[in-house]
Amino acid sequence: MNIKHIAIIGAGAVGSGITQVCAASGYRVTMIDIYPQALEKGLATIQKSLGKLAEKGRITAGQQSAALEAIATSGDLAAAARADLVIEAATENPDLKLRVFRELDALTRPEIILASNTSSISLTKIGAATKRPDKVVGMHFFNPVPLMTLVEVVRGLGTSAETVAATVELSQKLGKTPIEVNDSPGFISNRILCPMINEAIYALMEGVGTREAIDGVMKLGMNHPMGPLTLADMVGLDVVLFVMEVLHRDLGEDKYRPCPLLARMVDAGYLGRKSGRGFYQYS
Ligand code: CAA
Repeated sequence: MNIKHIAIIGAGAVGSGITQVCAASGYRVTMIDIYPQALEKGLATIQKSLGKLAEKGRITAGQQSAALEAIATSGDLAAAARADLVIEAATENPDLKLRVFRELDALTRPEIILASNTSSISLTKIGAATKRPDKVVGMHFFNPVPLMTLVEVVRGLGTSAETVAATVELSQKLGKTPIEVNDSPGFISNRILCPMINEAIYALMEGVGTREAIDGVMKLGMNHPMGPLTLADMVGLDVVLFVMEVLHRDLGEDKYRPCPLLARMVDAGYLGRKSGRGFYQYS
């Protein structure tokens, strides 16, 4: 498959990270978001991240400016019509994702792959919303995208072997390490990560230790680069809650019950870094 131009839907932390990585790997990229402020913020994040990588000598000044020049932005989903592959990284909302995929299916050439960065929504269901389920696949990136090497390549029930092979190849061209996973609630990553974070929140709610103690134990005792509460703030508490709700509902086991403190914090708008307050405060 000859991929030159990639459209990314969503300019949030992950969408802008994917845009950056694709542009830095030599692809032409159109980053699409209906909110102009999100596009501005996404571009600023990319500039800052490329600047840091150049400062550290991980990319040259030439690569930095070439990556920036390869990025176009648009507020209109129709801008994806000219792309050779689409990666959707919109808000983790099933109705929204299904609508976006229906529209992408109508807008784009029928032979191109439509990938989703969903962290927990069924790829089989997303594929079934289109007329090309064989070309719908999960490309699950990790935050911060420019630094994290994994891409979970998720195979829905209808995804073809050719689509999986092309997605694995693309992930490698982006400098990532793809790992293939079958479609199941939370895939592998969030089936394991989110229950750990949820348990840390239970420990906090029950007064087993302070936030610093819980994060400190996991950092110093298990060599995790960040404690689970700091990580929850980075991922977004709304995302963690959504994943726990999917695991609880779709796997039907009490062990996945979302912690009430997590649900209360999301109700209060304490979503972590992106809202300025989660388990910690951010300026
Ligand atoms: N671009 C470029 N550079 C970046 C960057 C970015 N986006 N983010 C951080 N850096 C730089 C920092 O500026 C820092 O540079 P200096 O050394 O010059 O200060 C360097 O990377 C290291 O960062 P820090 O010193 O702040 O912290 P660190 O050594 O702990 O590394 C980290 C940061 C890579 C994020 C590390 O803490 C880590 O791996 N944390 C865990 C991340 C993780 O688990 N991510 C997955 C979340 S789950 C998910 O995303 C999917 C889902 O569906 C929920």
